Amino acid sequence: MRILLLTHAFNSLTQRLAAELNERGHETSVEFDIADSVTEEAVALFQPALIIAPYLRRAIPESVWSRHVCLIVHPGIVGDRGPSALDWAIANQETQWGVTVLQAQAEMDAGPVWASATFAMRDAKKSSLYRHEVTQAASEAVLRAVQRFESGDFVPQAQASMAARGCTRALMTQAERRIDWARDDSATVLRKIHAADGFPGVADSLFGQPCHLFDAWPEATLRGTPGAVIARRETALLRATVDGAVWIGHVKREGSIKLPATLAFEPQAQAIAEAPLEGYWRVKTPTWQDISYAENGAVGSLHFEFYNGAMSTQQCERLRAALVWAKQRPTTVLLLLGGGDFWSNGIHLNVIEAASLSAGSAADESWRNINAMNDLALELIGTEAQITIAALGGNSGAGGCFLARACDQVWVREAVLLNPHYKNMGNLYGSEYWTYSLPRRVGLDAARAIMHKREPLTARHALEIGFSDACLAGNVPAFRAEVAQRAAALASAPDLPAQLVDKRETRARDEARKPLAVYREEELAQMRRNFYGFDPSYHVARHHFVNKSPASWTPRHLARHRDLNWKANA
Ligand code: COA
Repeated sequence: MRILLLTHAFNSLTQRLAAELNERGHETSVEFDIADSVTEEAVALFQPALIIAPYLRRAIPESVWSRHVCLIVHPGIVGDRGPSALDWAIANQETQWGVTVLQAQAEMDAGPVWASATFAMRDAKKSSLYRHEVTQAASEAVLRAVQRFESGDFVPQAQASMAARGCTRALMTQAERRIDWARDDSATVLRKIHAADGFPGVADSLFGQPCHLFDAWPEATLRGTPGAVIARRETALLRATVDGAVWIGHVKREGSIKLPATLAFEPQAQAIAEAPLEGYWRVKTPTWQDISYAENGAVGSLHFEFYNGAMSTQQCERLRAALVWAKQRPTTVLLLLGGGDFWSNGIHLNVIEAASLSAGSAADESWRNINAMNDLALELIGTEAQITIAALGGNSGAGGCFLARACDQVWVREAVLLNPHYKNMGNLYGSEYWTYSLPRRVGLDAARAIMHKREPLTARHALEIGFSDACLAGNVPAFRAEVAQRAAALASAPDLPAQLVDKRETRARDEARKPLAVYREEELAQMRRNFYGFDPSYHVARHHFVNKSPASWTPRHLARHRDLNWKANA
């Protein structure tokens, strides 16, 4: 079937649906919801059998929904209506929530139901629930709805006829999100910030300056006067509550972009006492720890929980130091586990942008950041005493994918999406030794196609083409349990010493053929042009990305119906 995905952005949910539908033989094309006339034009060009709207911020025009079946993905249970569905589900401490696929009609979220799916709520940020449970439930429900539509005999059910516990809820206001530091306990503060993460955040103030709070973490032991900032650790600030304290990882100051808290308030944070953690061993009590290490027999595990998977120069340097330390441990397998939501999305575009906001140079910071990423990738490639495994429980994009590929093996959770390409960021060439690691895995032609087409890659497809080495089912905890089991089996495999010898010999042969330093030099020559050259595309694209500028057109590689030859190529 020809299916048009009408969406505000090509976000992870839209990417997942496109990939799932394409894998089932449907022909999809994407149009961003920019203006009614643009939507009408897309429909006229593509003539879809069905329109699916995974992520919309406005209503579909009547001229479209009155003539075509348009299925809206609503992140709420049947009967739920309104733009803050997940926010309210977290705030109201729902234990079960869901996704409903309903048909667009005049009244928002009121149309008949084509399919729905439910899930158990988790104590997590809204953005995390969206990327995991909502995305999973949405793809199940959409695929069922598509099958029902295809069958031709399914009649969607009017909401009024369904025994539903959902109801209409208005947009959650900042007054409803407000934290009362003199009254709210830590659990309440965490819940309020979680319900607003990653957008819009909770309006508050720090050091007397208005800002929005994001990325909250519990703290088990440290205490202080409620509301006071009582400690800092790396990028996070600790704020006391009536019964404990809560770490704030990210803030957005008025008129600025979302940044690590200690960077957004740099001079003020410097005056706050540091609460360092000793070493890398995973701390057992809840606290903020972005890099941690655990060991089980001969298997070491390095976790790095970086918000949004973005890795600044300092984060890369700290992670490299942890890696150097972990490599000295008496282990034979080293797992690189990344974070729960993302493994890595490459260089930290917000921190880079901040360099230009503070009269520094975004080009210089980009250069430092990519070099720090490369140093980290090199440290991984050069690991001799352990088999390194990147275990991707969360999505990964751009340089993050090639940081993973710098490991000996890449194991990917089935629901994960990879975007192993750079061009979307203003034609960035990319580095992280991708010109070494990618062609040797998938071949030169496939490597070129991946970079050029800029398509998301499902875990199954990544395995098929040889980008990755395993595709494992389950949610993040189940995936990690299986990864641990497989890693233990690998560590005790009789041929492990032979595998390590083989790995060292292969590396030595590759190095003799073409040194890694040459790959790096070649990639960085291109990156130097991206950062310092006459073409500002990368700086412009980064600026729009971090400022979340609304799209003014759909990129041509997504809007296939706008390609003059699309019918001939289809
Ligand atoms: N630096 C800073 N922030 C980043 C980031 C990066 N490299 N990659 C993603 N983010 C942020 C987004 O701004 C967004 O922020 P929010 O919390 O304010 O919403 C959040 O991470 C999630 O990103 P989003 O684009 O909504 O997630 P997605 O799952 O739909 O898409 C990607 C994932 C990787 C395709 C997309 O985020 C992307 O293109 N990132 C840029 C990758 C890149 O070009 N890196 C630099 C070259 S190495």
